[in-house]
Amino acid sequence: MIEEVYQYLLWLVLFSAPIIFIVLLFISAPYGRHHRDGWGIEMDNRWAWFWMELPAVLTITGCFLYFRHFSTTNFIFLGLWLLHYSYRTFYFPFQLKRSNRSFPLTLVLSAVFFNIINGLVNGLFLFYIRPIDTLSWFVNPTILLGIVLFFVGFTIHYTSDRIIINLRKEDDGIRYKIPYGGLFKRVTNPNYLGEFIQWMGWAILTWSIAGLAFAIFTLANLLPRAISNHKWYHRQFSDYPKDRKAFWPF
Ligand SMILES: NC(=O)c1ccc[n+]([C@@H]2O[C@H](COP(=O)([O-])OP(=O)(O)OC[C@H]3O[C@@H](n4cnc5c(N)ncnc54)[C@H](OP(=O)(O)O)[C@@H]3O)[C@@H](O)[C@H]2O)c1
Repeated sequence: MIEEVYQYLLWLVLFSAPIIFIVLLFISAPYGRHHRDGWGIEMDNRWAWFWMELPAVLTITGCFLYFRHFSTTNFIFLGLWLLHYSYRTFYFPFQLKRSNRSFPLTLVLSAVFFNIINGLVNGLFLFYIRPIDTLSWFVNPTILLGIVLFFVGFTIHYTSDRIIINLRKEDDGIRYKIPYGGLFKRVTNPNYLGEFIQWMGWAILTWSIAGLAFAIFTLANLLPRAISNHKWYHRQFSDYPKDRKAFWPF
């Protein structure tokens, strides 16, 4: 029964990725700089991020506690996941500057839905379908590469988030500026690039189709937005650096 639920949810993530990708190429998600009226009830952007990301913390922790496979390796998997989602849920939202920006409730609900499904897919796989008991899992060059990618990606998106959040002063409203520094020298959206690298690292270090499905979904979600953001900067700023790429530096 649990295997069937896992399979069903996994295919849901995998099949929805190309659909999301195509839709987002034509319709930018209406939050932040692409905010538009007409998307229904809205909420404060800080609390929107908190509620969107919280299910990812709860679902995987719930799987870990429920299946009681408390090996050191599983603790490490859980710890890496929670490193990201604790940052995204409890820290990142409250670093955002207070602006007039609000966030459509429909987007919040769809992100909650995705994070429940994705947390379950990864949690069921890691802690029920294929729990790992031995620490020797990490004595493998491919797995170590995955760990390196995970931390490189986390560092890139964390430092890029810091740069972009600090561009705005508390009383600046929704004014935008051109970001400089770090990987912004090369790409418009290093935070998205870092996030993708991190989840590719996760797919490799857990060596799981569940992790790969998440990395694919992340790319399907963030690449179209990176392209929209890039075009937006060029429309807004005549002095926007010409050699900056949208997502991938090369
Ligand atoms: N895994 C996934 O599928 C996924 C999906 C979405 C996001 N994320 C991650 O979530 C994080 C936030 O995403 P996001 O799309 O909100 O990022 P973002 O567009 O870079 O915005 C982050 C914050 O910086 C502000 N900001 C952005 N550009 C600015 C500028 N030029 N001048 C001044 N302030 C600026 C935004 O204000 P405004 O809100 O007023 O624009 C917002 O408060 C990223 O690290 C991203 O990787 C992950």
